[in-house]
Amino acid sequence: MKSSNKIIIAIDGFSSTGKSTIAKQLANKLGYLYVDTGAMYRAVTLYSMQNNFVDTDYLKKEALIGSLQHITLSFKYNEKLKFSEMYLNGINVENEIRSLAVSKLVSTVSALSAVRKKLVEQQQKMGEESGIVMDGRDIGTVVFPEAELKLFMTASPEKRATRRYKELLEKGHDVSYEEVLHNVEQRDYLDSTRKDSPLIKAKGAIEFDNSDMGLKEQFERILSITERHISVS
Ligand code: DC
Repeated sequence: MKSSNKIIIAIDGFSSTGKSTIAKQLANKLGYLYVDTGAMYRAVTLYSMQNNFVDTDYLKKEALIGSLQHITLSFKYNEKLKFSEMYLNGINVENEIRSLAVSKLVSTVSALSAVRKKLVEQQQKMGEESGIVMDGRDIGTVVFPEAELKLFMTASPEKRATRRYKELLEKGHDVSYEEVLHNVEQRDYLDSTRKDSPLIKAKGAIEFDNSDMGLKEQFERILSITERHISVS
């Protein structure tokens, strides 16, 4: 048994399954660090766009790989919002990385092994202390295969597209529901069929379909599973 009794919680799943909402709530409740690894892949994607490594939908992969050493990603806790925001080379990019333009390209960027290697190393360092909730696509399979608690979140593509569409509208992005649904389905396909670290349910992961579950019920259920895991770890 670890003296601190703190554990690593790995949350994986398809896009817009509400992973980050649950992960944030859980981390705040437990006093754990929360890391949104999707934000890191999104920030690398934004960097590619800002540096003209993208020509319409074509990504200049070699140019991006050759520039990886110039990309510094960090999280800074925002006291007001109660979560850590993404900084790309010292600049807060939390809003830009959520745009549909970034969502359209992020699965191509995150399929690159050189990108994954850099980000996975940084993620593993963040987990050295335990007491962490990390969400993404490969947390339970690659980043922390030994995590004490692994969750795998699913929901129907339509439910997920509706959630993401509302979120984007609230943030002032100009999108249509059809575009968002198409993006969700396309990312499901690309993320789960790529060669390096495809999205699959990790060994030992607990599957959670939240298509018809409210946030409150979902959080209560997951918290009770978590507390049981912490008490036996
Ligand atoms: O969680 P999200 O939708 O913000 O993630 C954006 C993209 O980043 C997702 O479509 C795939 C990629 N990603 C990944 O490949 N591995 C992770 N651990 C997290 C995200």
